[in-house]
Amino acid sequence: MLAREMQRNPHTNAPLAKVLEDLRAAAVMPFGDACPIPAAVNHSLEFLDLERRAVFEREWICIGREDEIPAQGDFLTHDIAGVPVLVVRQQDGEIRAFVNACAHRFACLVADASGSRKRFTCRYHAWTYDNAGELLRAPYMEMRDGFDPSRHRLRALHVSTWEGFIYVTLAQDPVKHLPEALAPLREQVVGRYDMACYRTVMRETMEWDANWKNLVENFTESYHVPIAHGQTFARHNKPLQDYVCGEDRDDYCYHRAPQASASGRGAAHPRNDRLDGAWRRMMVDFCVFPNHLVTLMPDYLWYISVQPLGTDKMRATWGLAVPPEVLADVAEENYDSWLADFRNYMDVANGEDRELVEALHRGTSSALLPTGTYHPIERNLWQFTNYLARVCGA
Ligand code: FES
Ligand SMILES: [Fe+2]
Repeated sequence: MLAREMQRNPHTNAPLAKVLEDLRAAAVMPFGDACPIPAAVNHSLEFLDLERRAVFEREWICIGREDEIPAQGDFLTHDIAGVPVLVVRQQDGEIRAFVNACAHRFACLVADASGSRKRFTCRYHAWTYDNAGELLRAPYMEMRDGFDPSRHRLRALHVSTWEGFIYVTLAQDPVKHLPEALAPLREQVVGRYDMACYRTVMRETMEWDANWKNLVENFTESYHVPIAHGQTFARHNKPLQDYVCGEDRDDYCYHRAPQASASGRGAAHPRNDRLDGAWRRMMVDFCVFPNHLVTLMPDYLWYISVQPLGTDKMRATWGLAVPPEVLADVAEENYDSWLADFRNYMDVANGEDRELVEALHRGTSSALLPTGTYHPIERNLWQFTNYLARVCGA
């Protein structure tokens, strides 16, 4: 296949020092005076390189959900800014993560996106590993004097779980303890939903022509929802005046709003005894920095883990999960059509967003732009700009 042509524009070769200076200037502005993130941050090749090192090689990246790998040997593969990653459920119930590369000559070990295996056998020379990454078998290596299988195991990575989500970091010394960093978000906002009890019903991947941060920008503001999501989320009917943006934090941002209707999609199921009062019809949109996006509703959640494939291309892994009382109402014979309806709903919503996200990327390709600004419920974007400036050392 031919290498993808990258779209070049006036920001592509912007010098890193200038991009960082502009990012810093955007971050130090108080929110009331703030402008959108500088365009070059989403187009500069040097900045892309920096964010690989400062963001994706250091931070906790969401891989999926715990209930996607319930039994020993169940696995998911993913990648973190180009590094292939394998996460596997262990015999003791823990989850371990590895670089998805064989310990012989580093061929990618597991090609499937998900599955279940007692052992992982490399298709190159049949080196075989157990679920814990230990080398069990290396054909004919007894021909090599002193070969010690215990010195050749899969390269382990740190893994963490939080509220049903699995995170992996490439960092040898993780920059933070994730559940501790997210404790205020759990205790004050999202803990009451018990996201870990939601059952995952869908896992998908999509690639759009935009920078990964364009999707973060789009997801973390709901100003566009009544205008752009006429066929989907706008039907939840949440007046913009009711939106509350969360406090300024280093590790996450969120906003929330109650929908008008106390029943139907977006409202708590009558048997949901976890949520009280207005929380029974509350949506929370949050981002675990840098790239884990969640729309949390009383009756379903939608999550995305988005990553760069260049300055001008992003890949998002996304999934849907629903709480047990909602799933219990779906008769077995209706499950496939229920799921197809849900998928269709999400496909329409993603289609609505795709146009906007790609438009952000296209518009900001210009060096000549008017003076931008924010609506008050776009505070999460300024919070993300601040996060980015901090971790990129701007
Ligand atoms: S590269 Fe995997 S067995 Fe040789
Ligand atoms: Fe949207």
